[in-house]
Amino acid sequence: MSDLNERIKQITVKKSGVTRLTLSDFRNYQNLRIECEMSPLVITGDNGSGKTNILEALSFLTPGRGLRSAKLSDIKCLNSKSENGGWSVAAEILKNDEEYLIGTGLQNAAEESAETGEQKIYSRRIIKINQQKISQQAELGKYISAIWVTPQMDRLFQGGPQPRRSFLDRLVYAFDLEHAKRTANFEHLYRQWFQLLKSGCRDTKWLESIETDMSSLAVAIAAARRELIARLNTFILNEPDDIFPDVRLELDGPAEKMLDTEPAIKVEDFYLSHLKKQRNNVLYNESPDGINRTDFRVFFRKKNMPADLCSTGEQKALLISIILAQTKCQILDRGFAPILLLDEVTTHLDNQKRDALLQKISDLSIQAWITSTEPQNFGILKNKAQFFAVRNNSIFSL
Ligand SMILES: Nc1ncnc2c1ncn2[C@@H]1O[C@H](COP(=O)(O)OP(=O)(O)O)[C@@H](O)[C@H]1O
Ligand SMILES: [Mg+2]
Repeated sequence: MSDLNERIKQITVKKSGVTRLTLSDFRNYQNLRIECEMSPLVITGDNGSGKTNILEALSFLTPGRGLRSAKLSDIKCLNSKSENGGWSVAAEILKNDEEYLIGTGLQNAAEESAETGEQKIYSRRIIKINQQKISQQAELGKYISAIWVTPQMDRLFQGGPQPRRSFLDRLVYAFDLEHAKRTANFEHLYRQWFQLLKSGCRDTKWLESIETDMSSLAVAIAAARRELIARLNTFILNEPDDIFPDVRLELDGPAEKMLDTEPAIKVEDFYLSHLKKQRNNVLYNESPDGINRTDFRVFFRKKNMPADLCSTGEQKALLISIILAQTKCQILDRGFAPILLLDEVTTHLDNQKRDALLQKISDLSIQAWITSTEPQNFGILKNKAQFFAVRNNSIFSL
């Protein structure tokens, strides 16, 4: 066994993942409970039976709005009998064999208006760890981490850069829990800046103070993205997979490029002057560029072929290469295993690659949730996985 696999094994003998998942009024499930082992779990069912909803629920155990980036109010079960409640996801989890409870959901609360005395109902996201409410979502990342692959990501390498950037940022969060805060703060400032300019604000002091904050955040974001890309590239170069193609990752953005040769402080200055020059563009309806133009490019290393020119199956294989490398890097770096949420992951893979992927997941000895409409595709996991079927808004152990 290679040195690296040995090191991974030493970490994954201690188990990390979900041992029990309980959903209340979450999408199509009024009540659902799953007792889970630390093995692959295969969930099969017809289209629309509720497979992705289970993965989405699991994704809410990590910071953010889940794998569908959903509006939180859309998640509440439309057939719910409870009138006032929201929805909730509760999980008993292990992190390196230590037990924790995580609960999250949307709760309705009533507030009396100080002026009118009227009762106003509002909803808010609640997060609890071991029954204690926490205010910072990033805190969740200390206990559990999830990496997901969804059918929407089959087109990740095509089209505009926004979904690629979000994908990349999620990979960064896993190593750098502050990154989520940075990107959220940047977006908030950017919107504020944009609105001010659109409304004709000429308060240059105010604008410049926002621009200064944006510049330092933008460079911190660019640096964190560069670090992730370098980490994965080095890993893939040193530990090429035997089945899935080697990928080369590249960041393409002005700040990122400049960081190759210039110190961060200089890049911040460049960014600041760049933003100032953009003020007029915003005013005259031309979209400003900058960090928002950053793209994340993926190449099939051996063919030196950009991913968007590769076949659909090749693109899926490239995506899986990135995910496998990320999973292993995370185990080694953070000292505990992420859970994998693999929604219809075998689509577009030939039989050899499908079986190789399932075998690799099983060998990693981590918890992976795999959905499919095709139960017959999982023969290789016989006796190695838990099998479930979903129908009629319930789940059945097979
Ligand atoms: N808030 C909701 N309340 C009840 N049902 C919902 C809600 N949101 C989505 N659904 C239902 O969930 C089903 C989709 O589930 P999904 O997990 O995506 O299915 P699949 O098994 O194909 O992955 C659809 O039938 C949809 O109508
Ligand atoms: Mg689905």
